[in-house]
Amino acid sequence: MLVYLTRKEGFNAAHKLWVKSWTEEQNFELFGKCANKNFHGHNYEYEVTVKGKPDPLTGLIMNVKDLGKIMKVKVSDVLDHTNLNLDPNFLPEDAQPTIENLVYYIWKEIEPELPESCELHCVKLRETAKSYAEYYGE
Ligand code: NI
Repeated sequence: MLVYLTRKEGFNAAHKLWVKSWTEEQNFELFGKCANKNFHGHNYEYEVTVKGKPDPLTGLIMNVKDLGKIMKVKVSDVLDHTNLNLDPNFLPEDAQPTIENLVYYIWKEIEPELPESCELHCVKLRETAKSYAEYYGE
């Protein structure tokens, strides 16, 4: 019996999408308003899903509060109220702060912190009501 357990957390952050080696026209053509020079903010929401077998005694695959704490310490506290382009965080310096990149680096932060009782299954990051990215470790 394999069960999937999900915890949701969030953070607010600013970013700008910009390829340095491109012209202004090329950047605005691809990124639109996300290339605005003075940055803009998003209320990011993300979900982390772990999978495992419930312990016969406790019925848990892991304590969901502990999962929330890992997410808060490793991700939300690092990114909340920051500028994803300028402030230090776990993104490599040249990585664009897109949801596609962020979701991968959030996985890298969470995965080593999980107990042996479960495995990371998915990280899902929502930037707007219409857009989100998911990563399954592939
Ligand atoms: Ni944006």
